[in-house]
Amino acid sequence: MTHSLPLACIFGGTGFIGRQVVRELSAKGYRLKIATRVPERAYELKTCGTVGQIVPVFCDYTANSVAQAVQGCDLVVNCVGILFERGRRNTFQKIHAELPGLIAKACYESGVKKYIHLSALGVDRAQSKYAQSKKAGEEAAQKAFPSVTILRPSIVFGAGDGFFNLFARLSLFMPVLPLIGGGHTRFQPVFVGDVADAVVKASTYPECAGHIYELGGPDIYTFRELYDLMFRHTGRPRPLISLPWGIAKIQGTLMGFLPRPLLTADQVETLKTDNVVSSGALTLRDLGIEGTALSTILPTYLSRFRPGGRFGDKKAA
Ligand SMILES: NC(=O)c1ccc[n+]([C@@H]2O[C@H](COP(=O)([O-])OP(=O)(O)OC[C@H]3O[C@@H](n4cnc5c(N)ncnc54)[C@H](OP(=O)(O)O)[C@@H]3O)[C@@H](O)[C@H]2O)c1
Repeated sequence: MTHSLPLACIFGGTGFIGRQVVRELSAKGYRLKIATRVPERAYELKTCGTVGQIVPVFCDYTANSVAQAVQGCDLVVNCVGILFERGRRNTFQKIHAELPGLIAKACYESGVKKYIHLSALGVDRAQSKYAQSKKAGEEAAQKAFPSVTILRPSIVFGAGDGFFNLFARLSLFMPVLPLIGGGHTRFQPVFVGDVADAVVKASTYPECAGHIYELGGPDIYTFRELYDLMFRHTGRPRPLISLPWGIAKIQGTLMGFLPRPLLTADQVETLKTDNVVSSGALTLRDLGIEGTALSTILPTYLSRFRPGGRFGDKKAA
């Protein structure tokens, strides 16, 4: 392998979106470092490239470790994020608000050409701690690396996602499912392949530098409509119980004590705000990407939840 090929470092490359970004960038011929706390987690990703093209590197997210990871890179992508806080190290403040600035500063100091940061849709509107920390992270990244490109996806779907797989799994054993806040919150789910494509486009087009892109798919759904679509593909309809915001918050507070909570009070707060692309925002279209419809992808990975499994009775789904 010749070293004239560009070098990229992906923080959070072992995650749901990060893995897809690794696949896309390796197909584009990048040499890749996957910065991770547990390099073993990235071993399977080595098969996405040729021998030596993809290399996991240990990173404990300290300033030194981050600086080493970005050393010599042309492109850096930050796909690190958490949904709930745990202990003193895994806080929204550290992971969402401070780390993007730390990476941006390291990129600036080591002459990285492009920095792409994954944020989330609605962080400029929602009042949750999650949203506010993501917003603070955007600002920290912009301050230290003004030409950073920020991508704000809505809920991301695709094989291995945390949203549809979770509710489909719950429908296997729960007699009823919760409809938080009455299920009126609107979402614009975006395909993981399109998000990774957006990273590739943002790394290629010079005009993306210094801009924020809001990534939503072609269709908008309420929470209730997402359940209906999921039931259609799993063939396991369940009654929905409407949980008023106050009750959902109490439930989230109690569940928040579990080691891996399904719902937290802060997530309930995030759900109060619609998660759709704002008017006037730069979008997937501005990157030359036509969003993939949810209904074309969902059956490809929810079919395993059908009664009788993937090769079971298709009429039931
Ligand atoms: N998935 C969505 O629907 C969605 C929607 C909007 C925005 N986003 C944003 O997109 C980015 C990627 O999301 P994702 O769904 O791919 O996340 P994910 O699957 O949970 O992966 C996140 C990655 O963050 C790294 N990480 C670093 N510190 C961590 C910590 N303390 N706890 C847990 N993980 C830690 C992990 O890498 P190592 O363990 O290898 O270090 C992990 O691979 C995040 O910034 C997220 O906020 C996601």
